[in-house]
Amino acid sequence: MTVADSFAGKLAVVTGGGSGMGRELVRQLAAEGCSVAACDWHPDALADATAAARSGAPPGVLVTGHACDVSAEDQVLRFRDEVLQQHSTDHIDLVFNNAGVGGSPSFVRDSREAWERTFAVDWCGVYYCARAFLPLLIASGDGVLVNTSSVAGFWATGGPGAPNTAYSAAKFAVKGFTEALIEDLRSNAPQVRVALVMPGHVGTDILANSRRAAGAPDPEAMTRAQLEEWIPASARPGLVRAGLLAADPSADDLRRLLVRLETDFRDKARLTAAKAATIILDGVRSGAWRILVGQDATLIDAAVRASPEAAYDYPALFSDLAERAKSSQAAGEA
Ligand SMILES: NC(=O)c1ccc[n+]([C@@H]2O[C@H](COP(=O)([O-])OP(=O)(O)OC[C@H]3O[C@@H](n4cnc5c(N)ncnc54)[C@H](O)[C@@H]3O)[C@@H](O)[C@H]2O)c1
Repeated sequence: MTVADSFAGKLAVVTGGGSGMGRELVRQLAAEGCSVAACDWHPDALADATAAARSGAPPGVLVTGHACDVSAEDQVLRFRDEVLQQHSTDHIDLVFNNAGVGGSPSFVRDSREAWERTFAVDWCGVYYCARAFLPLLIASGDGVLVNTSSVAGFWATGGPGAPNTAYSAAKFAVKGFTEALIEDLRSNAPQVRVALVMPGHVGTDILANSRRAAGAPDPEAMTRAQLEEWIPASARPGLVRAGLLAADPSADDLRRLLVRLETDFRDKARLTAAKAATIILDGVRSGAWRILVGQDATLIDAAVRASPEAAYDYPALFSDLAERAKSSQAAGEA
């Protein structure tokens, strides 16, 4: 399979292009001379992202924005038809299945409806877009399907007291599907290849965006019951041990914590969305099918594959990760 030196002159589809890594993929692809059709279910954020991408793009690059909820197949098909029409094309070269949300961590505690909503965005969104766009990638003669999974696609927990069932189930599905496509495409459509993106912690607004997607208000406007739903009892001991929460928190303590968790997630990550998008694009350009994003992703991947049985034995896993981090620091790795 050809490895692309550059995406200039190609046409890429990016889902979830309004924020975070998707927004940066749109911007960086356009700056490189690649036309982009981006979708998001937040038209305002998308309009802002596509305007920014257009302003940094060389002449001749077309960047279009499309309102679409990727978990609704009829909207995905309409998005595909709009792309074909607005870009006057009969093929697409690159599809970045990037849109995603967190939420409904507990299969036991959370409602079935909320659980299935998260799963539908994170799995069905990838599946419907793959169904809709694969024939157009085949028609490209040199297509690449890039599916974003997560560390949660090979390590199915958020850590002690932090289950992550809907998101992990969907991200494992994305990983399994993408790996299964390697042989399917090799056998049946060798002009297309797939890449699997597995980010660790990347500084984006995904926590706040996921809260809004679930219909929850800003923390300042939450009732005590809503706060307790968002910071469940099972997560509290860890937060108290980490010095983030008082043992007997008031509603205002919980509100402040929620704001802090969302902003720290965005602002205190080692990797920015821009850097993550560059790693993704470099990986796709290199021909890699397995793109780990961030040192945390690399270390957790190595630890879980070395000792699968210890993956959910936190003391054992964390001490293995600490050793691996020390060795990689000694070896001068980032
Ligand atoms: N940020 C991280 O640490 C991290 C880690 C691992 C994996 N990921 C994955 O990376 C991808 C991008 O995440 P991000 O951190 O940039 O998040 P983000 O919230 O900043 O951006 C995601 C974008 O997707 C859009 N979106 C969500 N659901 C949608 C839907 N149903 N239809 C259309 N658009 C939708 C959102 O509106 C948002 O603009 C996601 O798949 C996420 O699960 C993120």
